[in-house]
Amino acid sequence: MTRPIQIVPSVLPADFARLGDEVAALEAAGVDLVQWDVMDGQFVPNLTFGPDVIAAARSHCSVPFEAHLMVLTPDAMAQQYVEAGCSRLIVHAETAPHLHRTLDNINGMGARAAVALNPATPASAIEHVLDLVDLVLVMTVNPGFGGQAYIATMERKIAEVRAMLDERGLSDSVDLEVDGGIGPATIEGAVRAGANVLIAGSALYKDPDGLEHAVSHLRSLAEGARA
Ligand code: DX5
Repeated sequence: MTRPIQIVPSVLPADFARLGDEVAALEAAGVDLVQWDVMDGQFVPNLTFGPDVIAAARSHCSVPFEAHLMVLTPDAMAQQYVEAGCSRLIVHAETAPHLHRTLDNINGMGARAAVALNPATPASAIEHVLDLVDLVLVMTVNPGFGGQAYIATMERKIAEVRAMLDERGLSDSVDLEVDGGIGPATIEGAVRAGANVLIAGSALYKDPDGLEHAVSHLRSLAEGARA
């Protein structure tokens, strides 16, 4: 398995009054890309970033943006998030009755499609769309809020998805991302199970030694877990 370890911030804990400065600070701290948690108040009980907010922050850093669409209507919103500067859109398998078409359409918009699984959703739900995505996201919390506890039983599903990618010869081209409760105490378990892209919110923003220390600490733990 050759995909590199990536440390990716969730901007949920950031200061929303200074989002441009915040993404610039994340880039300076050495993150690989920035994830925007897009919530519609329906699929999840929280409301966050419209495309205009993301577009306003786009010119403040050069790392790629991905949008994690925790929304009931991804088809209706996708084009706007691509135009806002997101090069990857992550759609929840639970929200798209025509998931294959939804992912195909996103690829047709010049962005990269990706698919996410809530904790209760089996890995088999994405078995027939793996050829359309460049990333699979296994949620390690129930989506909607930052600062929740990591659900360690998800490591079995991470390993299942890793096996599915290996069996299909996709491990060199498709990333396996995890999100929720990732920090110094949990990141090694997720990497050993097969994840290579690690989303962190509170673990980055709550580190007393600052963002740069938090990013390099998580990266060295993750790379150490692979050795
Ligand atoms: C939750 C979001 C996560 C969350 C991560 O629905 O998708 O990205 O913000 O935050 P922590 O790392 O604090 O669990």
